[in-house]
Amino acid sequence: MINKSTIDRIMEATDIVEVIGEFVQLKKRGANYVGLSPFANERTPSFTVSPAKGIFKDFSSGKGGSAVTFLMELEKFTYPEALKWLAKKYSIEVEETVETIENKEEENHRESLMIVTAFAAKFFHESLLETPEGTSIGLSYFKERGFSADTIKKFELGYSPDQWEAFSATAIKEGYQQQFLEESGLSVKRENGTLYDRYRGRVIFPIHNFTGRIIAFGGRTLKTDKNVPKYVNSPESEIYHKSNVLYGLYFAKKAIREEDNCYLVEGYADVLSVHQAGIENVVASSGTSLTVEQIRLIGRFTKNITILYDGDAAGIKASLRGLDMILEEGLNVKVVLFPDGHDPDSYVRNFGTNGFKKHIADNKKDFILFKADTLLKEAGTDPLKKAEVIREIVESIAKIPDSIKASVFIKECSYLLKIDERALISELNKMRLAKAKKGSPPPTALAPSNEDEIGFEQLESEKTLEGESQEKEIIRLLLLYGNKVIDWDGLANTYIGPFMVAELSDVEFDYPPAKTFVEIYRREVENGVLPDEQYFIHYLEKEIVDLTVNLIATKYTLSENWYEMHKILVPDEQVNMKATILGAIFHLKKQKVGKILEGLRTELQKTPDEADQEILLNQYMHMKKVEKTISEFLGSVILK
Ligand code: GTP
Ligand code: MN
Repeated sequence: MINKSTIDRIMEATDIVEVIGEFVQLKKRGANYVGLSPFANERTPSFTVSPAKGIFKDFSSGKGGSAVTFLMELEKFTYPEALKWLAKKYSIEVEETVETIENKEEENHRESLMIVTAFAAKFFHESLLETPEGTSIGLSYFKERGFSADTIKKFELGYSPDQWEAFSATAIKEGYQQQFLEESGLSVKRENGTLYDRYRGRVIFPIHNFTGRIIAFGGRTLKTDKNVPKYVNSPESEIYHKSNVLYGLYFAKKAIREEDNCYLVEGYADVLSVHQAGIENVVASSGTSLTVEQIRLIGRFTKNITILYDGDAAGIKASLRGLDMILEEGLNVKVVLFPDGHDPDSYVRNFGTNGFKKHIADNKKDFILFKADTLLKEAGTDPLKKAEVIREIVESIAKIPDSIKASVFIKECSYLLKIDERALISELNKMRLAKAKKGSPPPTALAPSNEDEIGFEQLESEKTLEGESQEKEIIRLLLLYGNKVIDWDGLANTYIGPFMVAELSDVEFDYPPAKTFVEIYRREVENGVLPDEQYFIHYLEKEIVDLTVNLIATKYTLSENWYEMHKILVPDEQVNMKATILGAIFHLKKQKVGKILEGLRTELQKTPDEADQEILLNQYMHMKKVEKTISEFLGSVILK
């Protein structure tokens, strides 16, 4: 357990814009920041961060909360993990009560895999640097390849000793469970049930997720034997989904954002060499062909991808079609080829940082033109083949969501393919039409953005509990005004929160988060504390944080000039605070009474016994009176 004073220090140090800014490109808009949702695939930013309140709200997915909630949602961190991440970022020492073996076993599955993976990374890294075998074999290999001590340390490179059980036996001795050693792929089970090391005799490239935790490994053989696979990688596991991971992203994301461009290379070695040369905005898809998830991952940081191909890449043509997917995601793709026999790794080592940059500047081509060029060269003079190339190129252009950009490409291709521009446009329109008929809206359907008009209520799920909105209104008022003072008739200086919970002591809340919320509020008031927004934003239960954020982070409250922008006059609830508070309380009470009446009616119908009926009827009459009083009160005192 992390102790309370540590949590307080972490919360104080945390700048939500800075934290979220590591994952999402944020732009300042008024007092807030906006960006593209990292939880949904969207083109118009609806993700809002309010530094003043210390919260974010994603209007696409409905998610919202504090910096801690954000990390929990995005990285699937547990609460302590998120706190530790923040503590690390702000160099705050975490004070914890001691973790016992039982504690360790209690931790969830994912965490156990993370822990054994972290242990392995440390083991491999130490083997590389501190054992005679590691230094003479692994370290000398890395040095020969030109990796500096800093690079080795930064990327936590390692070496797995060339023995069957060096790692597995150590891990077992240290108390790590066989189950997690197997599931993480670090160890492989023999028929007799014992374990052996997967990566023995290989140099190790740890793979970090984009918050910097190691989740998998790539192990490269040092043998030249063609029968031995060059790389052995971690299998898919609960913590490693290779289609969602880009090698090097954790170390590249800052530079990607700053340069507004991401270099995409093929191998681990390419990432390391290019990064070491000071060009840090570089990632690799590591062996898999690029996936949509990986593209979206890059798309969170920049809209510009530059693909660096090995000169001898036989797969270029095969990959051309796959790359259309990047266009569909609305990203700009450039392609650079390296001369035969060179990959980015060897090129940068041979020609240095400037030579590398110059090569890119001189050779980068827009993807569509690159594709047209490549296919055209292949088609030669065959008119049928040429027609096929044209169709394919236009197909790619049709995938670009931005119609202005698309028309620029049409112009350039018309020049390159020596074809009348109008013929290309007509082909393009045919394709778009076909696509639109298939159901999905055409990408160019540029509807005016009306995101601000979607109220938060409309985005909520439709099937709400009966009375839920009245209960939520109470919570909203408690959050916004609970710790404010109001001058009540005769009762000067009454705090709104305690007044409200006292008034509602006879009301049972039905919507579970609201019920819990009011219980917490009442408990704190009894302890002499007036909990405020921040108290609930940082509450431990997600349910409570969600409720809080949803209520205080509406489009309306997050953009203070919203009313002005839309020239709408809204009656200000603070002008008549008393009416606002009493109105909410009595609307809720009326709803509850209505529900009781309904219950009594059904019971009356089901009760054959006359004496019982009599009792029920009396209750019914009484509640009817209560209902009337409330209605009169609402009608007369409160104009709502
Ligand atoms: P070097 O030969 O050391 O320069 O390695 P590299 O990292 O440049 O690798 P290469 O260009 O040969 O391959 C690109 C990427 O494909 C590698 O980084 C690996 O992720 C992956 N890869 C290559 N060979 C294999 C293999 O045999 N098995 C698997 N699973 N992946 C491989
Ligand atoms: Mn290579």
